[in-house]
Amino acid sequence: MTQATAVAFEQYSELDDTDCDARIVAAKDALQERAIILGHHYQRADVYKHADLTGDSLKLSKLAGQAKAQYIVFCGVHFMAEVADILSQPEQVSILPDMAAGCSMADMANLAKVERAWSELSEVLDPDQQVTPVTYINSAADLKAFCGEHGGIVCTSSNARRILEWSFAQRRKVLFFPDQHLGRWSGHTMGISPEQMQVWDPDEWMGGLTPEQIDAARILLWKGHCSVHQMFQPQHILKFRNQHPDGLVISHPECRFEVCNLSDYVGSTEYIIETIREAPANTRWLVGTELNLVNRIAEEFRPQGKIVQFMSPLVCMCSTMNRIDPQHLAWCLENLLDGNVVNRIQVPERDKALARTALQRMLDVS
Ligand code: 13P
Ligand code: SF4
Repeated sequence: MTQATAVAFEQYSELDDTDCDARIVAAKDALQERAIILGHHYQRADVYKHADLTGDSLKLSKLAGQAKAQYIVFCGVHFMAEVADILSQPEQVSILPDMAAGCSMADMANLAKVERAWSELSEVLDPDQQVTPVTYINSAADLKAFCGEHGGIVCTSSNARRILEWSFAQRRKVLFFPDQHLGRWSGHTMGISPEQMQVWDPDEWMGGLTPEQIDAARILLWKGHCSVHQMFQPQHILKFRNQHPDGLVISHPECRFEVCNLSDYVGSTEYIIETIREAPANTRWLVGTELNLVNRIAEEFRPQGKIVQFMSPLVCMCSTMNRIDPQHLAWCLENLLDGNVVNRIQVPERDKALARTALQRMLDVS
């Protein structure tokens, strides 16, 4: 960020929300088709309403690849804006309104640790012949590039099972990072037993596993998790079922295994919305995913008599996603009007090409 833009944001930080709102609308009108705003389902309501297109990670990555606008303003988190940069054309510019909007789960794996795991695995097998690296889209671009380079692939919460099937068609084993819960749940739906899914602790030699455990494993699950989804507990579901025997439970696959296993439905944010939309009127739902999304669908489906409840008694918001506020959005858009790009996300060229390979494999499979 240059000194001039930093000073400019200080002026926006004090801006009243209503003023911000009007300025975002005016800037969007003036920019017309030069800018498109993509919004993830977890965005706060006062930002989400300005999105031109909304979706889960898979849908948004496809939309970013198809966008024609010169500027793609991503109201989401850092890895999503990276994917937009990787899949868009070289002349397009990807922007993240607040650079502090990261993903704590994505930060649980990094290139040095994944390369170390690969080299430690080579003590007991030949990973480039026997292991497909699979990275959840919630990861930095250099990890997607690692997968591109080593015959691996990217997955999202919508397609993880299909991606695992593809991965096993390539090689016998999978190293799945950084979310152990998504990997475990997807493996479980394929009939893979708990003994065949071992947790790889990146801070331990050999992931903390014996050669025999590595040999028996079909999936090595990176020891990472989402701190938001980890808050949901089996007892939240048991209490709900006790109070509402006819109620239905739906969870995101980033929730721990016990929560997914007790749920009636498990799927991505887009799947959660569509499942409740398609459900009969007057049904009651307990939903295990981020609070902004749950609040939005509770309101949207209330006229159909559907009651949508949040799974936890605690507030579980994605605090990094919430960093994108109307002030940052107004700041980015008005700077674009002045011909000034702030907070550009630009993946280095080498990583970009290899990461695109891994993402393209995913898009071809799904
Ligand atoms: P979706 O793929 O469902 O959008 O999930 C992304 C995410 O970060 C959930 O925490
Ligand atoms: Fe990352 Fe969890 Fe936030 Fe999703 S909800 S962006 S996984 S921290």
